[in-house]
Amino acid sequence: MDQAASSRPRDGVNPGAAPSGGPGAAWTVLGLETSCDETAAAVVRLDEDGRATVLSSVVHSQTDEHSPFGGVVPEIAARSHVEKIGEVARRAVAEAGVGMGGLTGVAATAGPGLVGGVMVGLSFGKAVALARNLPLVAVNHLEGHAVSARLTEDAPYPFLLLLVSGGHCQLMEVRGVGDMTRLGATIDDAAGEAFDKIAKALDLGYPGGPALERLAATGDGSKIALPRALLGRDGCDFSFSGLKTAAARLAAECRTDQDRADLAAAVQSAIARQLSERSERAMRDYAERHQHLLFVVAGGVAANGEVRRVLTETATRHGFRFLAPPLAYCTDNAAMIALAGAERLALGLASDIDAVARPRWPLDEATAAAQPLHLKAGRKGPKA
Ligand code: KG4
Ligand code: ZN
Repeated sequence: MDQAASSRPRDGVNPGAAPSGGPGAAWTVLGLETSCDETAAAVVRLDEDGRATVLSSVVHSQTDEHSPFGGVVPEIAARSHVEKIGEVARRAVAEAGVGMGGLTGVAATAGPGLVGGVMVGLSFGKAVALARNLPLVAVNHLEGHAVSARLTEDAPYPFLLLLVSGGHCQLMEVRGVGDMTRLGATIDDAAGEAFDKIAKALDLGYPGGPALERLAATGDGSKIALPRALLGRDGCDFSFSGLKTAAARLAAECRTDQDRADLAAAVQSAIARQLSERSERAMRDYAERHQHLLFVVAGGVAANGEVRRVLTETATRHGFRFLAPPLAYCTDNAAMIALAGAERLALGLASDIDAVARPRWPLDEATAAAQPLHLKAGRKGPKA
């Protein structure tokens, strides 16, 4: 894609507003995201009352550069981020209408992700922070996804979060900024990774999730039985590798376009069903400890219509309000990084200017250390 996609400022904002910042004040934060294959920058304003307004959000996707290789090539990604970050950030500031002087903070993804790319956005953010004398926040990309519904919706803490992306699949109890407990996670592949790899086996190209969803629309999933991993098993962990292997084998046996569509529909509904079954367990557990029941789904896979439909139905059945961000904020973007940074700045949680890029960075470090997930080397997705 040559042209960076962008969204215009939302109604009701005051682009000429004076700069703000400081304890209890409003924040206007430049967010930067370069952890995988999107070069993104955004400006978000967080008011004193906690209301967020996206002033601009620019995303340059590298899809065209990676698709000949069937997946993200780290070296190509890093070089492309270097080439694009300046232009994308300039556009985000220009479209926000506040000028550089209107910014009161900078937030950049510092991990987890492809470290060469993470370093590009983080270094750029440090340069802006130093040049403009602004506080810097080194943001965990997953914390960005966790707050993404708060960009446009009334999603007060605490809530139960299902984070489903290309590199992650986890259920979290989110009590506040940086205050989260992992209730479950995938023991092998992430849901998005399963979508992508099965799409590849069906020759749907990269990225596979949206292509598989389009193909599934013309298929009948009930014709094919796929393995149901961890069914009835205690806990809230996920597993998608058995499904992936079975689906790849069936893909090789497909004779007609209809066979392929039926397989795509069966895969999509199997993934949605597992997400629902495991979330249901987390809902029961969460409801024992909380009065206000809010279920938030975030990450690229939350863009899938069938996943949303099944999870909405499950949440409603268990008395939870269901929320998922608009599609543009499900997949990687910098508005969510700007908001995660603004929420930290509002609590006085700026980072040191020598913050490092981290290829791995669990959201709930305590649980991750106590119950490591045994992943074989090299099996994690590009965004893990
Ligand atoms: O959140 P994201 O943009 O990047 C990270 O992993 O952090 O998620 C990308 C993932 C990819 O695996 C992609 O195939 C999947 O989200 N995805 C979808 C859909 N849109 C994106 N999967 C299924 N259906 C979709 N419509
Ligand atoms: Zn992501």
